[in-house]
Amino acid sequence: MLSFMAMEYSEKVMEHFAHPHNVGVMEDADGVGEVGNAKCGDIMRMYLKISEDEIITDVKFQTFGCASAIATSSIATDMIKGKPLSEALTLTNQAVVEALDGLPAVKVHCSVLAEQAVKAAVADYYKRKGLPYDHPCDACGEGGCCGHDHDCQDHD
Ligand code: FES
Repeated sequence: MLSFMAMEYSEKVMEHFAHPHNVGVMEDADGVGEVGNAKCGDIMRMYLKISEDEIITDVKFQTFGCASAIATSSIATDMIKGKPLSEALTLTNQAVVEALDGLPAVKVHCSVLAEQAVKAAVADYYKRKGLPYDHPCDACGEGGCCGHDHDCQDHD
């Protein structure tokens, strides 16, 4: 197994891993998304504060996982903070990887958690508001279902 230092991480990954942005718990979040990778057991929780006009005014995250998962969570929160919900829903794991100047190929799957966590948090917001979440299955990516019970035709 490769050690952390043996992998070629970009400076941005190292920076976000060493000093992650927006870490913590948000007690009064309007949407909370928690996703996990069934294979490695890593877990990511994303908290969103959302204004009346559906702007993400604050974001916090907790990631119990690898360095890549922490770095991708950190940069994903930067990428959606201050943005409309509609824009946050278009965030892809590829965009997150690009923003980090790349990830080692074997760690690209870690970035999927960030995309899923954002979408799961938005889905939770819609659920709390009693609104339909019309992005079915976006939160159910590789590695299986995110575990959320948003309106997704592939859910039980
Ligand atoms: Fe599990 Fe990176 S190894 S998310």
